[in-house]
Amino acid sequence: MTVTNPYNATLIEREDIHAALAIFKIRLDSDDALDFEPGQFTTLGLIDPDAPPPNPNSPATKRRRGPKLIRRAYTIVSSPKTKTHLEFYIVHGDEGTFTPLLWQLKPGDPLFMDPKIKGNFTLAGIPDGKDLIMVGTGTGLAPFWSMLNTYRHTGCWRKLVLLDGCRYVKDLGYYEQLTKIAEEDDSIIYLPTVTREPDDAPWAGLRGRVHGILEPEKFNELTGISLDPRRCHVLLCGSPQMIDQASENLGKLGFVTRDRDHPDGNIHFERYW
Ligand SMILES: Cc1cc2nc3c(=O)[nH]c(=O)nc-3n(C[C@H](O)[C@H](O)[C@H](O)COP(=O)(O)OP(=O)(O)OC[C@H]3O[C@@H](n4cnc5c(N)ncnc54)[C@H](O)[C@@H]3O)c2cc1C
Ligand SMILES: NC(=O)c1ccc[n+]([C@@H]2O[C@H](COP(=O)([O-])OP(=O)(O)OC[C@H]3O[C@@H](n4cnc5c(N)ncnc54)[C@H](OP(=O)(O)O)[C@@H]3O)[C@@H](O)[C@H]2O)c1
Repeated sequence: MTVTNPYNATLIEREDIHAALAIFKIRLDSDDALDFEPGQFTTLGLIDPDAPPPNPNSPATKRRRGPKLIRRAYTIVSSPKTKTHLEFYIVHGDEGTFTPLLWQLKPGDPLFMDPKIKGNFTLAGIPDGKDLIMVGTGTGLAPFWSMLNTYRHTGCWRKLVLLDGCRYVKDLGYYEQLTKIAEEDDSIIYLPTVTREPDDAPWAGLRGRVHGILEPEKFNELTGISLDPRRCHVLLCGSPQMIDQASENLGKLGFVTRDRDHPDGNIHFERYW
């Protein structure tokens, strides 16, 4: 039996923001075009070091022609305007399976990246000129960075509020860039908030989980925008518990989750687990 090599891509660069948070830049080894919409994701894969090799006599492995891959979904953080590679913003889970393998990679190392890019968590179908409220926990920032860099200055939104909820200030991976963009562009309001930064740390910004900031009065005080379902679309990404709780709270204000029965809904979400 010929054993096939499952790897089709190369890590070309990694930027470690801290020991457990990094940006990975990956390119396909072929010249295949990588077209996608901001907010979509693909799958990365690495060989499972604990899987038995393929064996035509074993029912468990006989259909496999190559080593077994562990695969995980990752939102593309770069813009489709970047054609040479894709970028990913990834946190190393304490008890994860895939991320410890990914963290062993250095530039030049091979891996699998699915060239089929998927996902419905995009701005397609949201009318131009609305207020967009983007809420991410941890690396749930990823789709918003891609959307922001792709659609800035296109009239896609009236105001864009980016609520970036992290444990510590060091986890606000794009803090400097987002602060600068918001200073330069009146249509963008960046609201980073941290939950575990020590009280005596030199952080003068917001604290607490994102829900506190999505309280209508607090939100209006911070942004000047009223949380009005006729004017706003809310995009939620990251922790599923955050998404459930935020959707419930927004539902009480008249927001509706977009789904098959509610194609005009104004809550959009991407659960990471
Ligand atoms: C559509 C989609 C897009 C995704 N995009 C990203 C992304 O851009 N960046 C990213 O870091 N992860 C992303 N994820 C999560 C990713 O697929 C993996 O689940 C994650 O990297 C952990 O993999 P693991 O094998 O190390 O741990 P797993 O065994 O898969 O997960 C262990 C536990 O870690 C927690 N967890 C998983 N992902 C995260 C996370 N991102 N932040 C906080 N806790 C988490 C959950 O409690 C989970 O049960 C995405 C998931 C989906 C479904
Ligand atoms: N962050 C680090 O420095 C670090 C270092 C090493 C390893 N890790 C591991 O990486 C993984 C992911 O950590 P992460 O910090 O990126 O992601 P995370 O645990 O999802 O936390 C990101 C932010 O989301 C908030 N949050 C969690 N549940 C929420 C909910 N139901 N509603 C609203 N907000 C909610 C958190 O607040 P709370 O703080 O209140 O939970 C935090 O502010 C974990 O396994 C972690 O142990 C993280």
